[in-house]
Amino acid sequence: MLVIAYAVQLYTSAKRRREPQDPPPPPAGDVHLPLSSCLSWIPTICHPLLRSLVIHALRLGPRPHHVAFIMDGNRRSARVRNLPVRVGHEEGFEALKRVLSFLLKLDIPHVTVYAFSIENFNRDPGEVDALLDMARTRLVEICQHGALLQQHGVQIRVIGRRDLLPPDVQASCSEAEALTAQNTRGILNLCCPYTSQEEMATAIKRTIDQASDPAAITEDDIAANLYTADSPPLDILIRTSGVSRLSDFLLWQASESTILHFIIPNWPDIGVADILPPLLSYQAEVWVDKVANVFRWGPAADTGL
Ligand code: FPP
Ligand code: MG
Repeated sequence: MLVIAYAVQLYTSAKRRREPQDPPPPPAGDVHLPLSSCLSWIPTICHPLLRSLVIHALRLGPRPHHVAFIMDGNRRSARVRNLPVRVGHEEGFEALKRVLSFLLKLDIPHVTVYAFSIENFNRDPGEVDALLDMARTRLVEICQHGALLQQHGVQIRVIGRRDLLPPDVQASCSEAEALTAQNTRGILNLCCPYTSQEEMATAIKRTIDQASDPAAITEDDIAANLYTADSPPLDILIRTSGVSRLSDFLLWQASESTILHFIIPNWPDIGVADILPPLLSYQAEVWVDKVANVFRWGPAADTGL
């Protein structure tokens, strides 16, 4: 009898050991970017430590002031798993939260993302509805008290042809902006519905309207009328999904010293290791410039290239 009781006790304690309790859910807004599929061989238990090591190491060097993303590959990510396209976009939104959280922990204050192009209105109506529905409900969610943007003191700006959105989506965009209007530590420019050529045409029209002498208009006057005028020059532009095109996104802003980086993973699958190379390139460029300046007599000549 004693032996049976002992065996039962052994069995139940072993079962308890094999089925650990689920970890408590993370607090609202506390989301983590995975390390990336190429580092999936590293035991999961080491991920939080590695992630915070990466963040601490990057924070020792210069960090970009403005990073932009063409979040491409949502549908392909869903289709390879036989999931509806809508799921790809929903996972894309979760990826956006994780990437933002990572960049904001690095104190990168300005982030611009291509959420919906004016051309996207030509997609299947069901897909357009799913994307607009996300704008209707999820934007306000990340702007509420205690959520991601409030934790980091960042404003949201929905930029582009907002007048093309249904009235209730426009109202949600205004509500999200109003919730974060007092934040001063950075800006999330959410481009929706946007194209760069439309932005430039609008900026040129506004500049002409303001000018007393159109012949005296300069590039700076036009730049001051772009939707992104309150953000600093664009340091890094990243496009996911293995496509190397700009697709009418930030053409004016990316024309000078922006680092362009095209990466293979689809947007929903983006991880820390995918974002590291452009961040390290930026740090290397800043350090090389600093060293070059030390050995230079007088200011560097601008060679244009
Ligand atoms: C491009 O992938 C992605 C989009 C058109 C939508 C991006 C939107 C989000 C990530 C979420 C935030 C959006 C809103 C509106 C709040 P794709 O659809 O072109 O996919 P594919 O390249 O695989 O065809
Ligand atoms: Mg695409």
